[in-house]
Amino acid sequence: MSSTPITDRDTIQTWLEHPTGGPALRGFLERAGSDVDQLAPAYGLPLGKLVDLSGGKMSQEAIDAIVRDANGGEIPAAAEQSASSSGHRFEGRTIIVTGAANGIGRATARRAVAEGAKVIATDISGDGLASLAEELGSGQVITVTADLSDAAAVDEIVAAADGQIDGLANVAGIMDNFAAIHEVTDEVWARVFNVNVTGLMRLTRAVSARMLENGGGSIVNVASEAALRGSAAGTAYTASKHAVVGITKSMAVMYAQAGIRTNVTVPGAVATGIAVPKDVGEFGNERMTSYRPNIPAMTTAEEQAATILWLLSDDAAAVNGAVLAVDGGWSAV
Ligand SMILES: NC(=O)c1ccc[n+]([C@@H]2O[C@H](COP(=O)([O-])OP(=O)(O)OC[C@H]3O[C@@H](n4cnc5c(N)ncnc54)[C@H](O)[C@@H]3O)[C@@H](O)[C@H]2O)c1
Repeated sequence: MSSTPITDRDTIQTWLEHPTGGPALRGFLERAGSDVDQLAPAYGLPLGKLVDLSGGKMSQEAIDAIVRDANGGEIPAAAEQSASSSGHRFEGRTIIVTGAANGIGRATARRAVAEGAKVIATDISGDGLASLAEELGSGQVITVTADLSDAAAVDEIVAAADGQIDGLANVAGIMDNFAAIHEVTDEVWARVFNVNVTGLMRLTRAVSARMLENGGGSIVNVASEAALRGSAAGTAYTASKHAVVGITKSMAVMYAQAGIRTNVTVPGAVATGIAVPKDVGEFGNERMTSYRPNIPAMTTAEEQAATILWLLSDDAAAVNGAVLAVDGGWSAV
């Protein structure tokens, strides 16, 4: 009797326990000179996420070959994804999503459109936005290619919303190079703060002013585990994400009676392939490496987006100023 079909949407754990999937995946890893134990933090992720996680080093073609190997040479039709949308919570609403070309921002834009929103999708990557618009293929997305660290970006993004802005997801952000403070250059500090803090502040300043005029709205900032602890990144990124939490708390208090809710998500390790600069701070990177085994599980961009959309929606009407860990339990370690 043949075994149940298995696809790249099944988790690595499921693959390892599957009668034909287990040998196919283990065989692939062995041939690649790798070991299944190295994937331990990613066991809960769909197999297909290894493409993002590897930053493209593992291709979709390689994943497809493993899937064929496990299914007698065929790629089984994937079952419709459940829970990909919770209805149409954003019908008639306009949401701005920064960092929308890739990773968490792209998943947020995708799901917001699926739930009925008109999305102003903005990013520094014009190619990424073009592929997003092609993928979503509807009149529901307006793309704005802009560098958030450029003050002029704000007017362009807000103008695209044409008056009405109901939600803002501040997702765009960049990593630092893991440098400890004695290794931090002014250049890295400025680059990280200009995007993660100043760019976010400028856009939020303009959007919140508009929301005050229109009677309210919901804003979600994306921070990081580095907003909770000193062992997740270098000093510049850690300080920048602490600042994002500070902005969130201040806004939550300032606008608590003005109809604007502001919350912040704290992703742990997410399988997006976010770029880490090559010029790593040697001292800081060595210290960080010793803490990485503390990460209990990785999450997906789609899981992050689900939380962002919940906070943006009326389902979270009572939630304001929350610092919400979306980290597979890392913050409990
Ligand atoms: N991936 C993780 O493990 C992780 C963990 C914790 C927090 N985060 C945070 O989540 C957010 C999204 O990260 P991701 O993992 O999706 O990364 P990503 O690199 O996949 O996506 C980030 C997007 O932001 C865009 N961007 C970068 N600089 C920009 C600029 N100057 N102007 C406009 N757009 C710009 C990029 O082009 C990219 O499309 C970031 O704020 C990041 O700090 C990520």
